[in-house]
Amino acid sequence: MPYGNTMFAFAPDPNQPKPELYADLVEAARALIHDEPDGVANMANLAALIWQFLPQLNWAGFYRTIDGGLVLGPFQGKTACIRIASGQGVCGAALATGQTQLVPDVHAFPGHIACDADSRSELVVPVWRDGRVIAVIDLDSPEPARFDAEDAAGIEALAQEIAAAI
Ligand code: SME
Repeated sequence: MPYGNTMFAFAPDPNQPKPELYADLVEAARALIHDEPDGVANMANLAALIWQFLPQLNWAGFYRTIDGGLVLGPFQGKTACIRIASGQGVCGAALATGQTQLVPDVHAFPGHIACDADSRSELVVPVWRDGRVIAVIDLDSPEPARFDAEDAAGIEALAQEIAAAI
């Protein structure tokens, strides 16, 4: 377990092609959670890492599956709704279906929960462990259609990498 003054000097280049950016993000995440068993600490650092790596976000973080619904976890951005029922909004849809939700226009998504009125597009990726969705990673952007299939694939790779550490 790393104690004390471990420093991480990540230098993301947001202009590189997305697959390379996400490969770097996953590698940085692996370094960050290495040997650290505390899930809250890991989620907090991972939310900060995503925020640092990816441009044009206004929210990035975790909701955790608790008693069949979602409860807010560590994040970066404005204060957010705390509890989301399964099936409710974009995050609840990711929990209920177990599938990534790529939403180019949140206003067109039935039941979208507007935590931040600036949000225009959203990407929510379930984190699977032992055959169940233990959390979701939620990214919001003030840009319409900010996220595409490459972002979804990149965050899915991240979710797989960190599933055992949160
Ligand atoms: N918009 C999400 C709620 C979470 S906030 O965006 C942080 C939703 O519809 O599930």
